[in-house]
Amino acid sequence: MTPHDPPRSRLGLIGAGTFGLRHSRFVAKSDRADLVAVADPTFAWDRPLPDELLDLARYPDHREMLARGDLDGVIVASPSELHVAHALDCLDAGVAVLVEKPVAVDRDQAQPLLDRVAADPGARVLVGHHRRHHPGVAAARALIEEGRLGEIRAVAAVWATHKNDSYFDVEWRRRRPGGGMLLINLIHEVDLLRHLVGEIVGMEAIVSNKARGLEVADTAGLVLRFENGAVGTLVGSDCAVSPWGWDQATQDDPTFPHHPGQPCLLIAGSRGSVSVPDMTVFSQSEPSWLEPVTEDRRPVAGADAFARQLAHFADVAAGRVRPLVTPDDALRSLEVVRSAGLSLAG
Ligand SMILES: NC(=O)c1ccc[n+]([C@@H]2O[C@H](COP(=O)([O-])OP(=O)(O)OC[C@H]3O[C@@H](n4cnc5c(N)ncnc54)[C@H](O)[C@@H]3O)[C@@H](O)[C@H]2O)c1
Repeated sequence: MTPHDPPRSRLGLIGAGTFGLRHSRFVAKSDRADLVAVADPTFAWDRPLPDELLDLARYPDHREMLARGDLDGVIVASPSELHVAHALDCLDAGVAVLVEKPVAVDRDQAQPLLDRVAADPGARVLVGHHRRHHPGVAAARALIEEGRLGEIRAVAAVWATHKNDSYFDVEWRRRRPGGGMLLINLIHEVDLLRHLVGEIVGMEAIVSNKARGLEVADTAGLVLRFENGAVGTLVGSDCAVSPWGWDQATQDDPTFPHHPGQPCLLIAGSRGSVSVPDMTVFSQSEPSWLEPVTEDRRPVAGADAFARQLAHFADVAAGRVRPLVTPDDALRSLEVVRSAGLSLAG
């Protein structure tokens, strides 16, 4: 480390489940952060531990971990219903928080966190919509902001994969208010669409739980109206085999099969269109449905969204930058998927 290198953050982790463990692997590879402690009341500590957890201090109660007093930041990867309570405890302890999405399960639950962040300039909270840190997303946003696509008119997003039945052995994932693919998965697409296209001002949804028979949705179709007049569709399913979806199109999470050539987000404007995250740009010199469309592939380098999110969080924790995704921003995505969920009968 040289005197010019940015400081490393000392991090704790709340929730050492499926995604908490994945976070621990991302931190182990990071040159910006070290994981030093982990809190989880039900984690089976006597089972074989992944290497990156072997030397960590372990706590059954996250408040004991926070009482150490030497953490710069904490990653909250507990079940979604606990995010706000855990984030507030971290802020009370004076540490920065990277809280997984969804930031909360509804507006009422989120409000104390929003109030706290609004009232306390020292409260640093980043919400884990990691896709925004992907360079393909930054490139697409720049393309749109520069007006290269003209006015955005139509967008289509898809996320479809077949989760294993055993995924639903974990109780909170199969019931309201925190479970189901709307809050766990499609909220990522909604966040990305808001980030790239603009705020969503109208939404109609058809939502089904027919395939899995759970009280939460397994398949959904949303029709979206954006503030700028664009119209979009978002379809998703956690019980359909497909190569289409952010997880398959990128290698953000290497546990998914990789299908880099398949589109998962198409954005069409009055002058051109783009496929994200592969960044294939389509355009015409003069818009005409009878003229050839030029195809220009612009793959982006350094597409490691979680490493970038972690580096950003280290900067947030050090007070060097403001969070890219704040709780009130994340709440807007939550409200879209919550409204969609209401269209599921029962
Ligand atoms: N960003 C992403 O792409 C992504 C992907 C998957 C999951 N997630 C989010 O991560 C969160 C966790 O999901 P998961 O699938 O890993 O869940 P999980 O059930 O596998 O893990 C949750 C862990 O939290 C622990 N826990 C429960 N109560 C706790 C408490 N009071 N204090 C500390 N730990 C506690 C549980 O014992 C469990 O080990 C969810 O909010 C989910 O939406 C985000």
